[in-house]
Amino acid sequence: MSLLIKGADLVGAGRQDVLIRNGVITEIGKIQDARAGSEQVDQTIDADGLIALPGLVDLHTHLREPGREDAETIASGSAAAAIGGFTAILAMANTSPVTDTAEAAERVLDLGRLAALVDVQPVGAVTKGLAGEELAELGLMARSRARVRVFSDDGRCVHDARVMRRALEYVKAFGGVVSQHAQDPQLADHNACCHEGELSGRLGLPGWPGIAEEVIVARDVMLARHTGSRVHIAHVSTAGSVEVIRWAKAQGIQVTSEVTPHHLMLTTDLLAGYDPTFKVNPPLRPSEDVEALRAALADGTIDAVATDHAPHARHDKEHAFVDAAPGMLGLETALSVVSDVMVGSGLLDWAGVAQVMSMRPARIAGLSGHGRPIAVGEPANLTLVDPSATVTVDRDLSMSLSRNNPWHGRQLTGAVHATLLRGLPTVLKGALA
Ligand code: DOR
Repeated sequence: MSLLIKGADLVGAGRQDVLIRNGVITEIGKIQDARAGSEQVDQTIDADGLIALPGLVDLHTHLREPGREDAETIASGSAAAAIGGFTAILAMANTSPVTDTAEAAERVLDLGRLAALVDVQPVGAVTKGLAGEELAELGLMARSRARVRVFSDDGRCVHDARVMRRALEYVKAFGGVVSQHAQDPQLADHNACCHEGELSGRLGLPGWPGIAEEVIVARDVMLARHTGSRVHIAHVSTAGSVEVIRWAKAQGIQVTSEVTPHHLMLTTDLLAGYDPTFKVNPPLRPSEDVEALRAALADGTIDAVATDHAPHARHDKEHAFVDAAPGMLGLETALSVVSDVMVGSGLLDWAGVAQVMSMRPARIAGLSGHGRPIAVGEPANLTLVDPSATVTVDRDLSMSLSRNNPWHGRQLTGAVHATLLRGLPTVLKGALA
């Protein structure tokens, strides 16, 4: 199988042709059609006006299989990921049953391979059943065929400091990382659903104060320093967390972090209509926090963008705000949101997007075949982006089985045109190939 990409903008290296054979980039430069023809190129993609990025990597995807296949399957979520330009996604452990054993992790891996649209890398639970008490089979998951390196109880916080300390000590042995859902359950319990402030008071919604995130971030960077291990902060949502992470990085503490597209663009005031589409955990924050998150992503304090794609069936989402399931879709729109918010504002260039959406997340997750420079000899995991396309998001066109799409009806600039997984197009002209 050979494929020629004609005239893509290889950020930094200008307009080039890229020849791919058997999943690997074999040549970059001005490649004559005739010569490529004589070498029998099977397929050519006209990439005039398109930017080539290393395939996007999502550190934080909720696929609902096993257990809630009515909301998402590994196949439907993989299709949404491919449409969004992703070539690898990390599948969170809060399924039913929980991914807390080697067998469960291998099952997710195998179902991902069957769908064959993106590489689905299982995240292992930190604690058995996400109960926060007993460590899960961390070592067995790491040594399994799934080679689990990222562990998270996401959806729940590893709130017991002793358990978090042990988890950090344990994963250090095999170069793993604990991804923390930072939410002190005493300061923000499971009812908390609206950023605590003037609006939560006015709407009569239980408040979720920023400090509930910040105290856990502060504790965990100190535990990372104490153990010499790596901690990753999932879905950072406040300016205060950014301050702590910035300080910790300056101390040389091994902390990385991610921000979601929704926390980069959407603000608390959207809750005024009580639309449960906008209910998410952590909650949408005021514009001061949003500004701080954008600046932190631009200056490298926050390492990566991660979607927290959280599909929910209608019968779980369409309830009074307090009772609705938290979470929103994100895979298909992530690149467009980042393009709009970060590139459109001049805060990031496309090389920066490659860093925050591909290279750094791949490094954090320990995925060796992803997030690589576009160069001869590298695996051809690629995303072609049309930077000037405008898209109006339509939730009914989604590959996801769920419809909790907070971007519905919004116009965004920048869109994924094609996705290649090891040289094979999974998406062409914005549609599944
Ligand atoms: O809004 C959220 N939904 N936040 C989480 O941390 C978990 C996720 C889910 O699994 O639905």
